[in-house]
Amino acid sequence: MSANKNGDGGWKTFIWNSEKKEFLGRTGASWLKIITFYVIFYGCLAGIFIGTIQALLLTISNHKPTYQDRVAPPGLSHNPRSEKAEFTFSMSDENSYKAYVDNIDTFLVPYSSEKQDNPQKFEDCGAVPKSYTERGDLEHDVGVRKACRFDRSILKDCSGSSDKTYGFDVGKPCLIVKLNRIVNFRPRAPASNSSLPAAIHTSYQGNLIPIHCSAKRDEEADKLGPVDYFGMGSGFPLQYYPYYGKLLQPQYLQPLVAIKFQNITKDFEMRIECKVFGENIDYSEKDRSQGRFDIKMLIKS
Ligand SMILES: *[C@@H]1O[C@H](CO)[C@@H](O)[C@H](O)[C@H]1NC(C)=O
Ligand SMILES: *[C@@H]1O[C@H](CO)[C@@H](O)[C@H](O)[C@H]1NC(C)=O
Repeated sequence: MSANKNGDGGWKTFIWNSEKKEFLGRTGASWLKIITFYVIFYGCLAGIFIGTIQALLLTISNHKPTYQDRVAPPGLSHNPRSEKAEFTFSMSDENSYKAYVDNIDTFLVPYSSEKQDNPQKFEDCGAVPKSYTERGDLEHDVGVRKACRFDRSILKDCSGSSDKTYGFDVGKPCLIVKLNRIVNFRPRAPASNSSLPAAIHTSYQGNLIPIHCSAKRDEEADKLGPVDYFGMGSGFPLQYYPYYGKLLQPQYLQPLVAIKFQNITKDFEMRIECKVFGENIDYSEKDRSQGRFDIKMLIKS
């Protein structure tokens, strides 16, 4: 008990020692010094912190990715999307493919001509593949850059204008394919047709990233049937590149290619691989969507 009393007394004295005029063991002058020290100390720390971040921010641009030397080639993606890239539907059952049709409908909305009629934002870039459209330096943020129009009518039978179900109802489905956007990326066309599959040798042309689909397994090649490619020259024309990024080109439209499988063998799980070809496009085992994709298609009769 007495120890407790002493302790209490010691505690009170510690908080305010009227004899030595000390608060929590320090005099006012001592407290002033120590507070001043910490204010300056943390002030300097904060200054260094803010300064470093500011210096870093000065070196990076709003428009152009700073480190792009390791950018992987673009992914190749398709609509409709599908769970595990498997498409299974029955030609006679509308419900079995309705989700696919809706998916394409939604995807193509920005590609309607009425969405591209603002001449401040869009311009025509020609109907045949051409070289890149340069729209000035990425660094200079003077206004929004125009984008090339891409009207869905280019996709012909897969545009949705005459065939509202994109061929699904007759077992000739369309896939709409695009290369994913990469700011400031300039895909390079194949240097010659020798790197292309034999089937597209003769349609080889410059200023185009061609696309080709084939059976995943050689022994099933005869089950794939003819494949049509609708787009500007059966591939991705270069005048749609480079992409200037979300800030400078918010209305940018990727060029599209529609792939129409004209006679896939029915009631058979067809494995198909589609690939694009270009000098700076390669493929990766790790990222299976880089420059290509695989799908399975099972059409029930
Ligand atoms: C493409 O290859 C074929 C042979 O397969 C050749 O006859 C043709 O001249 C080539 N075309 C071009 C543009 O290189
Ligand atoms: C579709 O392919 C089958 C064989 O798989 C063939 O018998 C049929 O004639 C083809 N149809 C057309 C329109 O080419």
